[in-house]
Formats: sequence, structure tokens, C-alpha cells
Amino acid sequence: MAFQIPRGTQDILPGEVEKWQYVEKIARDICRRYNYREIRTPIFEHTELFLRGVGDTTDIVQKEMYTFEDKAGRSMTLRPEGTAPVVRSFVENKMYGDPNQPIKLYYIGPMFRYERPQAGRFRQFVQFGVEALGSDDPAIDAEVIAMAMELYQSLGLKKLKLVINSLGDIESRKAHRQALIDHFQNRIHELCEDCQVRLEKNPLRILDCKKDRDHELMATAPSILDYLNEESRHYFEKVKAYLTKLGIPFEVDSRLVRGLDYYNHTTFEIMSDAEGFGAITTLCGGGRYNGLVQEIGGPETPGIGFALSIERLLAALDAEGVALPVSRGIDCYIVAVGEKAKEESVPLVHKLRKAGIVADKDYQDRKIKAQLKAADRLSAKFVAILGDDELAKEVINVKEMSTGEQTEVPLHSIVDYLKERLS
Ligand code: HAM
Repeated sequence: MAFQIPRGTQDILPGEVEKWQYVEKIARDICRRYNYREIRTPIFEHTELFLRGVGDTTDIVQKEMYTFEDKAGRSMTLRPEGTAPVVRSFVENKMYGDPNQPIKLYYIGPMFRYERPQAGRFRQFVQFGVEALGSDDPAIDAEVIAMAMELYQSLGLKKLKLVINSLGDIESRKAHRQALIDHFQNRIHELCEDCQVRLEKNPLRILDCKKDRDHELMATAPSILDYLNEESRHYFEKVKAYLTKLGIPFEVDSRLVRGLDYYNHTTFEIMSDAEGFGAITTLCGGGRYNGLVQEIGGPETPGIGFALSIERLLAALDAEGVALPVSRGIDCYIVAVGEKAKEESVPLVHKLRKAGIVADKDYQDRKIKAQLKAADRLSAKFVAILGDDELAKEVINVKEMSTGEQTEVPLHSIVDYLKERLS
């Protein structure tokens, strides 16, 4: 019986994995420059964390979690996102007591959601995310957005659209919530069953409904921006002003609600405008979540962050026809001809590798012609041929593949020779 990979997951094979490594490296470099430090949390957490953290009226919690009982009967869940686990760790490790505030963290790792797989939507996907905890300066909202934009732009994406919104503070949200209830209440039976539940539990979620998206009540629903109190309005103005100062263009969309419950004030998404990108165009989502730390058992602490998946980022690069500068070739392939040379090629390739040269040799007992072909397939920059004659003279024949130039190099200086030519 042949096994198949689970639906909605993928193998990232050599040839493709170099792109992931490249993107991850650029993401880490950006975090280093913005002074965000890496955090690694477990792949699974107590289910309760997500019920509380992500919110029990969200699709994620209601439909998409990989939840299981462990052998001791505890309910565990594969993490569907990274914010709640980071906040759990922030509280548990008392990072709020650190004199260096805000605490700026990032993560790169797999997340799990039982969604209907389609282009850009997987059941296991890798998120790169950042979280800044402990500051409610609107400048940090702009900083976080700038980081996400920088990642996409530095990789060569051009067709990007940044959409922002404000959900306001608790008072503004309450006022808006009441306005939504008044708006939908009398005709709620025209909307789907989920929306009927949402009206009571979290009317804001109605605006995010995929089934009732085109219902006329949606277009006329009260806009959160009309319900922002003075403080929230001022905060949003500041965020927009900072984005403008940083030269980051944006659009305001009062319908941007986001699929998780913890947001207030700034929310944002970055979409791809590339033609043929497919139905799901959101590359990145984030926002402010003042109140979440308290919800998870810590002291009142503001927070903001974003997450984006590497899968959608790579799809956007494909859609825009951007090739990443990843090199898969090796520096030197050693071709050994004859028994003695074959033996000597073992310590020789070892020596090259120890010296930092990307080197390989034949392990299939191939003839010289086949070894040369193998070197070619590996895009070796140099091919070093070792035969009995060379061994007797203690030299090696080195061919530079780009020029075809051949040189006889003393065996004892092969490392220096290659290093100089490679630099
Ligand atoms: P989210 O909007 O649920 O937010 O997910 C963020 C990003 O993860 C999406 O924009 C998309 O790039 C990617 N993503 C989500 N689901 C999938 C999927 N099934 N397949 C592929 N990619 C996917 C969050 O997760 C929040 N924790 C973001 C955040 C951090 N907010 C504040 N801090």
C-alpha cells in the first residue's frame, strides 16, 4: 500500500526548500534590524488558551482547530495561530517585568487549521509573525506594518495593497456593537444561522460573514469609523500620519474586521494585486490587541503584531514572476579515476568541506564520463579531476566550468587555490 500526504499539507522538497530558507533568512534579518527577537513556543497548547485568546465565536475556534485529548484526558490543540501562544509565554515568563519595554518578538513556524484546502489555503502552513507587547505608542503600529511591507518589497513584490482600519477602544466598540444590533435585529432571520448566533455573541463578526457578504444589510451597516470616540479617532490619525511619514501608502477600509476576536484600534491586511493570483488575495494580517494579555491572565498590557504565511508569499512571488536569487550549485566536484584516486578523494573532499568549500564526489562507482555529468547536474563551479598520473605527481587537474580553463594545481594547495578563485 502506498501512503499519501494528508490533504492540505505539502512536502517542501530540495529545489523548493531553498526559497523558504531564503525568505526566512530575509525575515530574520529584518527582525534583527528592527530589534525583534525570536521566540519558539510549542506546536500544541491547552485548548482553553485558544478559546479565550482567539475567541469562541471565530471560525478558527468553531470549525478549524485540530483538537485532541492526550493520554491523561487533557484537551490539547495544535496551534492555529501564534499570537495567543506568544502572549501565554509573555505572561508565564513574566516578560512584563523586564525593564526593556516593549518586548518585541517574532516567530517562524507551522500553524494548523482544518480549512477547505485550495490555492493559498493549507491545513498546515508556516507563519512568520511579530508581536510587540507593552507599548501603545501609535509609532509601533507603523513600525510593525513597515516590517511586513519591507519583507515583501525587499523580496521584489510590487503589486501590494495595504488596507487599514480602526476598531477603536472598548467604549467605541460598545457603541458600534449596539448600532450593529439595532441595524440587523429586525431582519436577522434573512441572514444565515451563524449570523443569527453572531448577533448575540459578537455582531461585528456578521460583517465578516462569507455567506451573507452580498446581502443589502451589509452595505448599509453602520461603519465603525463613525463610532470612534475622540481618543480612538486621535490614535488612528496618528497611525495614519506615521505611515505617511514612512512613505507607506495605504487605503482605509471600515469593513476590515479580521477573523480573530482580540483586535481593537488598528487592524490591517496586506493584499496582492497581482493578476491571476487567485481568489484568496490576503498575504498578511494583523492588528492591535490591547486587552489580550489581561484575558490570558497577565497585567493590562497593550500589544500589536502581524502574521503572514510563507506559502502565500511564495505564491505572490510566482504570480508577479519574481525569481529569488537562490543558488543550488556546489563549489567543487571531485572526479576520481582509478582505485587509488577513489580512496584519496575521500579525505580530499573532507578537507575541502572543512575549509568551507561546498564540495561533493561520486559514491556510485561511476565512470569518468558519468562523474562529469553528475558534476554538471550539480552545477559545480569547479571540477577537480584526480587520476593515477596526477596522484603520482601530487597534483590535481582543476577545471573552471564557466570559462573551461584548466589548471594543474599542487594537491597541497588545492584549498587555497579554490578559495581564491571562489572569492
Ligand atoms: P490571520 O489573519 O488568521 O491572523 O492569519 C495571518 C496570515 O496567515 C494570513 O494573512 C495568511 O497569510 C496566513 N494564513 C492563514 N490561514 C492560512 C491557511 N490556511 N493557509 C495558508 N496561509 C494562511 C493571525 O493568525 C494573527 N495571529 C495575526 C496577528 C499577529 N495579529 C496580531 N499579531
